[in-house]
Amino acid sequence: MKIFTSKSGLSDALQDLKAQGKQIGLVPTMGALHDGHISLIDMAKQQTDVVVCSIFVNPTQFTDPLDLEKYPRTVEDDIKKLEDAGCDILFLPEVAEMYGQNESWDIDLGYLETILEGQSRPGHYQGVTQIVYKLFQVTSPDKAFFGQKDYQQVLVITKMVSIFKLPVELVMCPIQRSEEGLALSSRNIHLSPQEKRQAYTISRALFTMRQQASVLHADKLKEIGLNILNEEPGINLDYCEILDKDTLKQPNEDTSGLVALIAAHVGKTRLIDNMILN
Ligand code: PAJ
Repeated sequence: MKIFTSKSGLSDALQDLKAQGKQIGLVPTMGALHDGHISLIDMAKQQTDVVVCSIFVNPTQFTDPLDLEKYPRTVEDDIKKLEDAGCDILFLPEVAEMYGQNESWDIDLGYLETILEGQSRPGHYQGVTQIVYKLFQVTSPDKAFFGQKDYQQVLVITKMVSIFKLPVELVMCPIQRSEEGLALSSRNIHLSPQEKRQAYTISRALFTMRQQASVLHADKLKEIGLNILNEEPGINLDYCEILDKDTLKQPNEDTSGLVALIAAHVGKTRLIDNMILN
């Protein structure tokens, strides 16, 4: 695996590969890689010729400086995992390589930025779109791979791609879970064994809602989910919503499918998870 730390080094190398007719697949990450990230690399390998993974803990998407400081950094392990997975190129820039002084970024994400993660973490999606735009500029990928784990993020990036009319295809990859159902996340390493057990309640609520989705309406499903979540005192719920899967608005007669989305604190760790219900 080749490692680049400069934008120019990476884009020159990719230009050559493109000139040879190779399709480029990009997997953006913030490192602390787990099997969820690796599933994106696997998908990218299946669908493109050259897989580029980026690892960059992006400061502009953190709303809490402590959260940024606490974010796990495990670069040596990450490199080994990417090599084992057969990733072709790793982009590993420093902050100064990605951001100049006094840069500004303000795009109109509309409604999507006012709800759920956008509401809980003001400015988060401005930071996400800012860095993903930069990564797209450097790599000009044919396809970029994102996890359903961050469902709202996929919709936000889809909107950014349409605003700038970027020639990239976005691929949403399924959520990877532990045997117990917990969605894999870099933040799970902060959970104590007891907190982990408490966190299982989140996916249990999602699976139960999905089981009932063919027979019950959204309101009733939400009630079932809330009952399960509220029974676990270790869960401090931020939101549990059942929304139109395409718009993240309240379901109506045009809704073709539902998604259930949950965010909760378990101890000091904030977890998110979701499931498409039908
Ligand atoms: P990060 O949290 O490192 O996630 C990188 C990618 O891995 C995202 O697309 C995320 O949805 C996906 N992912 C995480 N856990 C997953 C799981 N259990 N199953 C499947 N996919 C999973 O998301 C970000 O970084 C950043 O916001 C980023 C897009 C890199 C911009 O900085």
